[in-house]
Amino acid sequence: MRRLQRLGRATVREAVGQNGDEMTRVDPDEYTRRLAAGSRSAHDPTGWFERLYRAAEGGEAVVPWDRRAPHRLLVEWVERNRPSGRGLRAVVVGCGFGADAEYVSSLGYDTLAFDIAPTAVDAARRRFPGSNVEYVAADLLDPPAEWRHAFDLVVESLTVQSLPVHLHPRAVDGVRQMVRPGGTLVVIASARNEQASGDEGPPWPLTRAEVESFASGGLRTVRVEEIADELQPTIRRWRAEFRRDGLDQARG
Ligand SMILES: C[S@@+](CC[C@H](N)C(=O)[O-])C[C@H]1O[C@@H](n2cnc3c(N)ncnc32)[C@H](O)[C@@H]1O
Repeated sequence: MRRLQRLGRATVREAVGQNGDEMTRVDPDEYTRRLAAGSRSAHDPTGWFERLYRAAEGGEAVVPWDRRAPHRLLVEWVERNRPSGRGLRAVVVGCGFGADAEYVSSLGYDTLAFDIAPTAVDAARRRFPGSNVEYVAADLLDPPAEWRHAFDLVVESLTVQSLPVHLHPRAVDGVRQMVRPGGTLVVIASARNEQASGDEGPPWPLTRAEVESFASGGLRTVRVEEIADELQPTIRRWRAEFRRDGLDQARG
């Protein structure tokens, strides 16, 4: 039940039966879990994202995280910090359909957004035809070398937790590497107790230690907040901000 609340609850149609004409109602979380389990047993832990987006294109699935609006915790962070993106570069990690990327772009940042699923990237471009965002397909676990220390603002919302726990350190490192000296990283994730097993998923929510692990390799913590869901206080999320000191601060 907790997982359903985290990902949103809706029903999807899934084709079943030999001839594909018989339809049944399947919970989208159950559907994504099945896809993810298939991917993992094929030693391809990210392959299911493209399959899910393609199934959604065909009307056979819904993407549970399709919010059509920027994440509330990102909007609150922006309202509190009032960043001006003019002359600055931002990247949105695992951008999905692009709602966060469009929001970041509206703040004046020259914005790049990427996702491992080419179908998500195409869908984001179609959804925002006049967009200034550059949408590209790329893998956080193997990012282009030119993205290293290239962005003044890095937004990571729910991507690391969409990967199995053993991949979290590599994904965290990929996110962290993109922050330019003087730049800021904002992380939004679901929270997991240190004691809870990280076996089930997706998602694989982050422990406090995992969130705090963004603060290494030259990044320092500005703030880590654990925020209870307004309607279901047992559900908790992280919003964390990190900064890579600029050359001046690093020397001083
Ligand atoms: C749970 S969704 C979150 C989407 C969006 N960031 C949001 O907050 O709604 C995770 C997204 O990350 C993408 N993703 C997963 N692994 C990735 C990787 N290794 N590199 C880039 N994108 C990835 C998935 O395709 C999916 O769109």
